[in-house]
Amino acid sequence: MSTDSRGSWGSRFGFVLAAAGSAVGLGHIWRFPYVTGEHGGAAFVLLYILCVFLIGVPILFAELALGRHSHKNPVGAIKAIAPVGTWKYLGYLGVATGLCILSYYTLIAGWTFGYIFKTLMQNPITFQEFSTNSLLNSTLYVIFLLMTIGVVYGGVQGGIERWSKILMPVLPLILIFIIVYSLTLEGAIEGVRFYLRPDFSLITGETVMIALGQAFFANSLGMGAMITYGSYLKKQENIIVSGVTVVVFGILISFLAGFAVFPAVFAMGQSPAAGPELVFVILPTIFEMMPGGLLIGTLFFILLAIAALTSAISLLEVPVAFLIDEKKVSRRIATWLVGGVTLLFGIPSALSFGASEFFSNLPFWEGQSFFGMMDYIFGSVALPLGGMMFSIFVAWRWKVANASQEIALGNEKFMGFQSKLWGAILSYLCPLVIFVVFLYSTGILNWVSGIVR
Ligand code: PHE
Repeated sequence: MSTDSRGSWGSRFGFVLAAAGSAVGLGHIWRFPYVTGEHGGAAFVLLYILCVFLIGVPILFAELALGRHSHKNPVGAIKAIAPVGTWKYLGYLGVATGLCILSYYTLIAGWTFGYIFKTLMQNPITFQEFSTNSLLNSTLYVIFLLMTIGVVYGGVQGGIERWSKILMPVLPLILIFIIVYSLTLEGAIEGVRFYLRPDFSLITGETVMIALGQAFFANSLGMGAMITYGSYLKKQENIIVSGVTVVVFGILISFLAGFAVFPAVFAMGQSPAAGPELVFVILPTIFEMMPGGLLIGTLFFILLAIAALTSAISLLEVPVAFLIDEKKVSRRIATWLVGGVTLLFGIPSALSFGASEFFSNLPFWEGQSFFGMMDYIFGSVALPLGGMMFSIFVAWRWKVANASQEIALGNEKFMGFQSKLWGAILSYLCPLVIFVVFLYSTGILNWVSGIVR
């Protein structure tokens, strides 16, 4: 199939905005502040940035090159290089991961949508009441999923690019507005200190794992979202410049999000380690107390919903592109089909917050909810695992020399030192580091060290 009948980005700016839209989402504005808060602040921020540049960026280049080379979804991209054999299952893993992450991501995204109205109408409902109301949750879930389907339905230029162009530049503006506000609060300086003055004694093996996982989640890596977005890139585009622009934009947004949250948290005498509820429990309280909080709070949740939408779009686009390319299904049918399956998968997650005893407290997994299980398996394990396999696939099966040639099409300077450095990192450092971290995250390393001891 020619590139044009699949669609491609209208401009470099369109691609960068869309890819940044995929990357920047709940991962930056909801997840980054809470994991930073839980893991000691500034030292974690530095560790995260290190993981992004050392592991994330090389894998981002690999995913974009693979996508542009094949003009395909993750399964098609792998088949284009390895037509027979088991490698294609790596593509299937990506498609399945996209669908499964979307199913619970949409739930949290639906909350952000609900919180816009909660804040605007000054509704005193608590997070506890909100998250256990299954009718409310399901309604918000379906609304958000329909919005995502609506955009993906429109295709590459009409839908994804147009929306990202309008929505993405609004993000940093609203964040800066909140930061200026929260910095004027009394006691805010404590939060700034927490966020900017590193205490390296707080870094443990687990901190490294969380930072690496966050680097994958936040940059949409490890499941082929960037392969799919790269497949709509034109050959003359510069993968290096576009990729680095996206990553730097993401780090900026995360950094601003932390800046918007921590000074306010400390000024209000709250704990930065409140966990996943940080945004949904602490911030509304803060918005209620501070002057102008109605406006700031509403703007904040609008911002979060916008960011979540542009990420949800990319999660949906991966299975949709798979059906279009591999199963020759029309975009229209593919979008509704994947949307429908996502909806079914999402129901148990929506019931995981107290509405159903079974899904809130899985009998076969002590203290774990269905939602928690999905996030652990797909968000924490499948992404780094997929990233490790993609780096091995590109470096050892496709080969660094071939992948470098694809990158060099839009950037001749890449051949030579840059290509060698990238190749070495992708071939050895990325798989090795992720492997060790993976052993940690699944508890295998602890188990082994327990035996050795
Ligand atoms: N990066 C998105 C976020 O930060 C989530 C995401 C993960 C999107 C993986 C696509 C693929 O919210």
